[in-house]
Amino acid sequence: MCGIVGYVGENQAAPILLDGLYKLEYRGYDSAGIAVYGEEGIKVAKARGRLKILDEMTHGGAMLPGTAGIGHTRWATHGAPNDVNAHPHFNRDESIVVVHNGIIENYLKLKKKLEGKGYQFCSETDTEVVAQLLDYYYDGDPLKAITKIMHRMEGSYALGILFKDHPGTVYAVRKDSPLIVGHGQGGNLIASDVPAVLKYTRSVYFIENEEIAKLTKDDITFYNIDEEVLVKEPSEIGWDISAAEKGGYEHFMLKEIYEQPKAIADTLNPRLKDGRIVIEELKMDDEEIRQIHKIFIVACGSAYHTGVTSKYVFEGLARIPTEVDLASEFRYRNPILDEHTLVVIISQSGETADSLAALRLAKSQGVRTLGIVNVVGSSIAREADNVMYTWAGPEIAVATTKAYSTQLIAQYLLALKFAQARRMLPEEELAGYIADLRKIPDQVEMVLGNKEKIQKFANRYLAAKDIFFIGRGIDYAISMEGSLKLKEISYIHSDAYAAGELKHGTISLIEEGTLVVAVLTQAELYKKTISNMVEVRSRGAFVMAVTNSGNQEVEKTADFVIYIPETNRYFTNSLAIIPLQMFGYYVALGKGCDVDKPRNLAKSVTVE
Ligand code: F6R
Repeated sequence: MCGIVGYVGENQAAPILLDGLYKLEYRGYDSAGIAVYGEEGIKVAKARGRLKILDEMTHGGAMLPGTAGIGHTRWATHGAPNDVNAHPHFNRDESIVVVHNGIIENYLKLKKKLEGKGYQFCSETDTEVVAQLLDYYYDGDPLKAITKIMHRMEGSYALGILFKDHPGTVYAVRKDSPLIVGHGQGGNLIASDVPAVLKYTRSVYFIENEEIAKLTKDDITFYNIDEEVLVKEPSEIGWDISAAEKGGYEHFMLKEIYEQPKAIADTLNPRLKDGRIVIEELKMDDEEIRQIHKIFIVACGSAYHTGVTSKYVFEGLARIPTEVDLASEFRYRNPILDEHTLVVIISQSGETADSLAALRLAKSQGVRTLGIVNVVGSSIAREADNVMYTWAGPEIAVATTKAYSTQLIAQYLLALKFAQARRMLPEEELAGYIADLRKIPDQVEMVLGNKEKIQKFANRYLAAKDIFFIGRGIDYAISMEGSLKLKEISYIHSDAYAAGELKHGTISLIEEGTLVVAVLTQAELYKKTISNMVEVRSRGAFVMAVTNSGNQEVEKTADFVIYIPETNRYFTNSLAIIPLQMFGYYVALGKGCDVDKPRNLAKSVTVE
């Protein structure tokens, strides 16, 4: 939610800021702005709408000459997305300028105090309060002013700051919002995420909570809140900029759909050794695993949907009671946790506010925690007791695809590891599951071959009003994700139902021609779901089915069928989700929607 960048160096700052903001636009895109320190002091340009508008308005940044600057792309929280609320924000005499990602929770209280001291505000944002608070404490020493406001602000923030008195210097600070520092040749950078700096450097510092960075052309100095200098080691990023570019695809989402076989293999292969499952990052031996009597899987959105699937996998394979919770519910429901509980937090970004809060809640009760995270060095990755990375690479499209697929793989591996340690699986059965895992990348590739068929079918539903998804057990979990994919990018209303639940109310919404997508990958439930398909069909629905190859029987009840290759009952989600991702994508494409940046959304949800 919101992206920030900063640059100071030998080159013109504005083009570098704009370039970095393009890489961060997935974080928010309702307005954008830059501030550059040039010969005539600090100049700001900002505009409502996509970054392209700001880019054109400033002639690619040429209208703001100067070699130090900060920039922002916004996902509005406080105040409508308009020019005034767009960042950067100035203090009263325009000598301090700030960009911000996060929420200052006590901003109204601080604003009132500042108003009492004669400060006036022109925007509705919490960020302007930060700029004015800095003004209030500033006596010529930026570091002192920054540490003072850190003591006063509650909430989350990543800030980039310029002070008119200190040309050639960018200050940055963070608490609970992501921020990295890039150490480049002839210049240094700050950014909310790695892709924004990769063109210039692969050497980055991860800033910890309540740390401050001071950047000049040649130097980077880190401080803690007591103004003491910190020694930090940079990390080398293992992937290059091409991983975060479209590479000939029309959208990042399509590219990421096609990257799934590789992402799955990258997540799987390092953990399969000599026919065994080895998850070193778990840092638990078999005896410790046997001490775990209950698992809580906690996540948001699509990551939560992977958890709904995994409940069946953990309980089915490892026979361990497993609860799945939405992080936003878990954190306020006083869950019963003890020393025999493992809390697994799943997150692509590793920054989702509710998931992070759930993790902290579990940790505060002394419970063992494991993060399944994609972004290396993110907050959840750093704070969880142990972290198992999904190696999906950078995921740029707002709607997740490849991260979702790798989260499933990580959980299958974990469930098999638990099954092995708890002696729930004979060796030959375990070997069978491992063989099935190894086949998944190629099987996903095969399902991707249905592209034309799915696109053609999707084009018939561009004007649909409602589309329903139904399934039972794991098929219900798959339906939830299929429905979310469709609605978030195509804006067509959609809901997922446990197939047996439709007749308890929702079936009244079925009209002549309503599309119902039925998922049937659980052989023991085929007949039950087919009955539900018959029920909707006899009320006028058109039925699409996604099912296992060999279940030709379904053609008697479905109007359109996509078959997935044979796997065991626990891993079907990895294959059945692919046609549903493609269906959502092609409906949105056909409707002319902005597939990678759906309205009102942002990639990394760092607010509650
Ligand atoms: C939907 C989607 C979201 C995320 C959710 C959690 O396509 O991407 O539902 O899954 O916001 O995000 P992370 O995984 O970053 O915690």
